[in-house]
Amino acid sequence: MSTVWKSRYALRTLRIKSSTIRELLKVTQQPEMISFGGGLPAPEVFPVQRFEEACHTVLEEHGAQALQYSATEGYEPLREMIAKNMARYGILAKAENVLITSGSQQALDLIGKLLINSGDRVLVEAPTYLGALQAFSVYGAQFLTVPIDDDGLRTDQLESSLRLSPKFMYILPNFQNPAGVTLSEGRRHQLIFLADKYGIPIIEDDPYGQLRYEGEHLAPLVVLDRENLRRDNGFTLGNVIYLSTFSKTLAPGIRLAWIVAPPDVVSKLVMLKQAADLHTATFNQMVAYEVAKDGFLDQHVKRIRQVYRERRDVMLQALQEFFPAEVTWTHPKGGLFLWVTMPEGTDCRLLFRAALAENVAFVPGDCFYGNDLADGCRHMRLNFSHSEPELIREGIRRLSVAVKMHLRTSHAPLEVAGGRR
Ligand SMILES: Cc1ncc(COP(=O)(O)O)c(C=O)c1O
Repeated sequence: MSTVWKSRYALRTLRIKSSTIRELLKVTQQPEMISFGGGLPAPEVFPVQRFEEACHTVLEEHGAQALQYSATEGYEPLREMIAKNMARYGILAKAENVLITSGSQQALDLIGKLLINSGDRVLVEAPTYLGALQAFSVYGAQFLTVPIDDDGLRTDQLESSLRLSPKFMYILPNFQNPAGVTLSEGRRHQLIFLADKYGIPIIEDDPYGQLRYEGEHLAPLVVLDRENLRRDNGFTLGNVIYLSTFSKTLAPGIRLAWIVAPPDVVSKLVMLKQAADLHTATFNQMVAYEVAKDGFLDQHVKRIRQVYRERRDVMLQALQEFFPAEVTWTHPKGGLFLWVTMPEGTDCRLLFRAALAENVAFVPGDCFYGNDLADGCRHMRLNFSHSEPELIREGIRRLSVAVKMHLRTSHAPLEVAGGRR
């Protein structure tokens, strides 16, 4: 490695670790491997033909303008469409509250840039989305972690961390990545109440909200917060910044997502985005608008829900059939993931190696923890959206072989200093 560059890297690069998931995705590309690793949508559901038609239409109707630089805020018709669609979920934003970003990952980076000074505390769920931990770490965030259970964030354990004045809370209320759990209605109200009491704002990351396979839609935090504000001092978007994306409903390769925030926050984010990439790809925005319009997106999301619901059910059934009784897992009502918990004393990082030998992959749980890494070692994240049902079944069978073997060896006598016990 060239020392010329190494000695010049900025301090913030010391905080960046390579992503286990990205590394893992390389291994899992071998053809015989069944991967439950990445958070990939099913390629079979990408609306390829509709995209093809939309590309033609965009070039025909907009010509060179589709290939030109454009506004940092985003393509106006797309912003308006997003605002209109969100209104159905009670999010009463105007186009001016919507900033188009190059994926939600960019939104997280911009939010980190906007809010985090080195050493600032950021409250996250344990476990939480790895990409957010990475994005916020670059800016020197110190994480305060609050555990989750089947009803999402343990709001009963929140106050001691809020007293430490985190800059903001980063919350995944729907079908959380990695655990697949959903924040219950009662806890949503409790969270908004506590956010208000301690004056701590919330970043609500909601890539999966539309991918619900059972039960009723729950009000987003941004809506509950607005109701809170309306009661007090008239309508305005307040203490919650909301993020969502087209990655899971249309296609991740177009890198299109959005932030909903009060206008002054949007203005600041626009400046930061300008410095980062000037604007999100004009052509992609126009094509996405053309693809999504006239109700196509709604129809398409219905189809995706059917496909993913079936895959989730196949995975749950296979787990029930093949896995030993001492292993448990979540029953997600939507999204792309479920979360497996192994008994005490097991280590999913070792299990991961054994699983690769059986040609099946998952993500070991320790990657998803801001702190308390040891706690993650008993968990694995399984993705059920990407593989076809028969492969899901076969993959879980293979994984069960590795799990049973690991349970036998990890229950062996403990290693202690000076020999075995
Ligand atoms: C919770 C969460 N936030 C953000 C992202 C990033 O999404 P995007 O593809 O829009 O960058 C993901 C992707 O898996 C995610 O799970």
